Amino acid sequence: MEPFDYHLFVCDQRKPDGVPCCSARGAAKVIDALRREVNARGLEDEVQITVCGSLGLCEHGPSMIVYPEGIWYSGVQPEDVAEVVQSHFEQGIPVERLIRTDPAALRAEILTDRARMLQGLRARDAAGMLPDELNDSIRGYQESRVMLTALELDLFSAVGDGNPAQAVAATVGADPRATGMLMNALASMGLLLKMNGVFSNGPAAARYFREGSPDNARPALLHTAHLWTRWSKLTDCVKVGTAQDHEEIEARGEEWTEAFIAAMHRNASERAPSVVRVVGVDGVRRMLDVGGGSGAYSIAFAKANSELMADILDLATVAPIARKHIERAGVAGRVVLRSGDLRSGPLGLDYDLVFVSAICHMLSPDENRDLLARCHAALSAGGRIVIQDFILDEDKASPKFAALFALNMLVGTRAGDSYGEQQYTEWLQGAGFQQIRRVRLPGPAGLMIATC
Ligand SMILES: C[S@@+](CC[C@H](N)C(=O)[O-])C[C@H]1O[C@@H](n2cnc3c(N)ncnc32)[C@H](O)[C@@H]1O
Ligand code: FES
Repeated sequence: MEPFDYHLFVCDQRKPDGVPCCSARGAAKVIDALRREVNARGLEDEVQITVCGSLGLCEHGPSMIVYPEGIWYSGVQPEDVAEVVQSHFEQGIPVERLIRTDPAALRAEILTDRARMLQGLRARDAAGMLPDELNDSIRGYQESRVMLTALELDLFSAVGDGNPAQAVAATVGADPRATGMLMNALASMGLLLKMNGVFSNGPAAARYFREGSPDNARPALLHTAHLWTRWSKLTDCVKVGTAQDHEEIEARGEEWTEAFIAAMHRNASERAPSVVRVVGVDGVRRMLDVGGGSGAYSIAFAKANSELMADILDLATVAPIARKHIERAGVAGRVVLRSGDLRSGPLGLDYDLVFVSAICHMLSPDENRDLLARCHAALSAGGRIVIQDFILDEDKASPKFAALFALNMLVGTRAGDSYGEQQYTEWLQGAGFQQIRRVRLPGPAGLMIATC
C-alpha cells in the first residue's frame, strides 16, 4: 500500500568527522531544497519526504530512495532538486543521470559499506573508545556556547541578508579574526551558510535569531545565556549544596530581568490557551496570579471571561514590563498589578482562583508550605488553587526536563528544587485543600489543582 504518489526516503546520516556520510556531503541543503520545491509546486500532499539514516551509499551521498518505484538516487545536489521534482514527481520521468541503474553494483556497494562500518565500530569498541552519543553530550557545551555568544553579539542580525566576517565584526564591535572563527563554526553547524567568503543566515537563524523576524527568540534566549554563567559553577554548587554568589531577582539589574521575563513570556504565551482551557473560567470572578511575571496567563484568563478581574502579585522591578503586555492586550482595566513579596504577608481575600505558575520550584519545602497556606486563606469557599510546575515522577529521576531543572534551581536559588506529585499533595493537604488532582499537559510542565 502506498498512500502518496511518491514517498522519498532521504538520508541525512551523520558519521564521525572524516567518515563519508550524507550529512557531511550537504544532505540538509538538499532536504531543505526538496521541501521548498515540493511546496512551491503544490505537491506537498502527493510527495511525502521522510528523512532517514544511512542507505549504504555513503561515499556518493546525498542519497535517497523514491517509492513506489524503488528508484535509488545518489549524489543529489541542491541545484538538481528542481529538475527531480519537476521531471520525476510532476511528469513521472525519473532523472536518469542521478539514478543508480545497476542493482548488482548497488548491492555490492551497500554491503561493502556495511562491512566497513561494522568493522570500524568493532575496532572502536575493542579499543574502548567513547561512543559518539556520549562524546556529543560531553562536548555539547561547545555548540551551545557558540550559539549563545552569537546571540549575545546579535551576530545573526549583523549578518543580515549576507555579509563577510569582517563587516559583521565591525557591526558587532568584535575582533575580525575571532568573528571569522565563530562564523565558520556557526556555518559548520548549519546556522550560517557560507559562499565565496560571504555568510548568510540559514533558515533557522533567519527565523528565530534575527532582529525584525516575527519569531525572533533572541530577547528570551539571552536568559539562557545568563543561566550559562550559573551552570558553569555547578560543581561548586553540588559541593556546597546551594547557589554560589546568589543575588535576589531585584538586584540582578534591568537587562537580566528583561531577558528573564521575555523568556517566561514566550513560554507562557504559548501554553496559556491550553492551561486556560483545562482550568476553565466559569464562575471565576476574581483571580490572583502569584508571581505572574509578564502577565501572559492573567491576560489569557481575562480574555477568556470578560467578567474576570485578575490581580498579579510580582516584584516592583517586573511591573513596567508586565504593564506593557497588559496594555497591549487591551485588558488594563481588569488585570491589575500589585508589587510585593510573595514570600511573606497575606495575599488578599475572596479570590475564586489562585494561580501559582513556575513559582514553587524557586522555593524550599518550608516556603512552599507557607505559601500554599496563605493561598488557601486568600481563596473563598469552593475556590481553586492551580499550581503549574515541572513535576517529577516518584523516582525523581524522570522526566528528564524536571530532573535537569532541579539543577537549574540548585545553581540559581538558595533552596529551590523540582518537586513531585506526592510532595505537592502533602503540602496542599497540609494547607487545608481538598479534591487534589494532577493534570498532565503536553510539554514539560503539569498542573496540580485543588479546592478550598
Ligand atoms: C519563573 S517566573 C514565572 C512567571 C509566571 N508565573 C509564568 O509562569 O510565566 C517567576 C516569577 O516570580 C516572580 N518573583 C520571584 N520572586 C518573587 C518574590 N519574592 N515576590 C514576588 N514575585 C517574585 C518573578 O519576578 C517572576 O515573574
Ligand atoms: S550516510 Fe547517507 S547513505 Fe550512508
